[in-house]
Amino acid sequence: MPVALGDRAYDVVIGAGQLATLGDRCADLFGRTRAFVVIDDELPSSTVDLALGALADAGLEVAEAPVSASEETKSLETAHELLRQLGSTGHERHEPVIALGGGVVGDVGGFVAATYKRGAPVVQCPTTLLSMVDASVGGKTGVNLVTTSGLKKNLVGSFWQPSLVLADVRTLASLSEREFRAGLAECVKHGQITANVEQPDLLGWIESRTATLKSGEDATLTELVERNVRVKSAVVASDERELDAEGRASRMILNLGHTFGHALESVRTLSPDGDPSHAPLLHGEAVALGLVAACGAGQSAGLLDESEARRVRGILESVGLPTRVGSLPQVETLIAIMGHDKKARGGRLRLVIPDGARSVRVIDGPPDHLIRAGFEAIRA
Ligand SMILES: NC(=O)c1ccc[n+]([C@@H]2O[C@H](COP(=O)([O-])OP(=O)(O)OC[C@H]3O[C@@H](n4cnc5c(N)ncnc54)[C@H](O)[C@@H]3O)[C@@H](O)[C@H]2O)c1
Repeated sequence: MPVALGDRAYDVVIGAGQLATLGDRCADLFGRTRAFVVIDDELPSSTVDLALGALADAGLEVAEAPVSASEETKSLETAHELLRQLGSTGHERHEPVIALGGGVVGDVGGFVAATYKRGAPVVQCPTTLLSMVDASVGGKTGVNLVTTSGLKKNLVGSFWQPSLVLADVRTLASLSEREFRAGLAECVKHGQITANVEQPDLLGWIESRTATLKSGEDATLTELVERNVRVKSAVVASDERELDAEGRASRMILNLGHTFGHALESVRTLSPDGDPSHAPLLHGEAVALGLVAACGAGQSAGLLDESEARRVRGILESVGLPTRVGSLPQVETLIAIMGHDKKARGGRLRLVIPDGARSVRVIDGPPDHLIRAGFEAIRA
């Protein structure tokens, strides 16, 4: 599937067993050069061997860099270490960095590629559902930064489009069910914005397959990723660098559920099922709650029917995602956290809320009662 970005256009290849084609595709794009492969250290050896074997068979000389994936290791320190390794091997500017892993490895690997010798090509090989449907496409790369007020996500980074995205849905077989479900939250989000980018109904497609998505058949997973990448790439193609805050397909619409979600994510004691040992929420779990909250805000603004809000909640519940959360802090505390969200500009918050079943709009400086209604919709 092409991502239409002029001279930065690239293909997203999606399918079962596609990792075996990595070497030939890289040889076609870059020649028989060296490849620096950043590898998520939780991947099973079968996945890693498949990728490295394909590169070696195609005549590429491989350097491996294992990385432990967490928000703490998505850091300048990890980027520095990877850059140091690149520099030590004499990696050339035209030689690819390959990110094999979830969104953390994709973001830090992409950032390293963006900054090494002012920009080396990057190939994204996402291995989580979230990174296949979202993080690997669109060129946002970066790392977190620990500031005096704590860890700030994605504070340092760059837009750096990949040369290729290769999503092999078979790699998802080793992913935990919880991580898989978390990725589905982003799929539901995409389903809620299809009308903004004139894409076919995705919410209904997911709704009619909530049982089979979990069993992970190759064809269903391939279609799931493909439909989502279509939505994400349509948004990216219309607003590559998130400069168009007002447009119908502004990249900001991808933030649906995220402003609420980021506030929830930062409360590290919240758990998806009330069991404290399952705290904190995964990003996708916080997004699922954020989507329900955004529906609550949409209802309060008179833009969404109760039946549509109930529908979104029902879809999320049927794939096992949380739609209510216990021990939620006071709304004032959450609003204060939201004020620090990076989407706030000049002290004014920007909130994306549903405007009907399949489209959203950006509200600049939303009144407190909308935010309050959102949080009340998810309070257990
Ligand atoms: N660049 C973007 O546009 C963008 C968009 C969305 C999210 N993100 C970023 O992505 C990150 C989240 O990504 P994620 O949800 O993929 O999390 P992740 O990269 O932390 O991966 C989740 C867990 O799964 C493990 N894992 C990965 N693939 C596996 C596999 N196939 N089998 C077994 N285990 C596997 C990882 O080691 C990790 O423990 C966040 O840092 C977020 O900020 C970026």
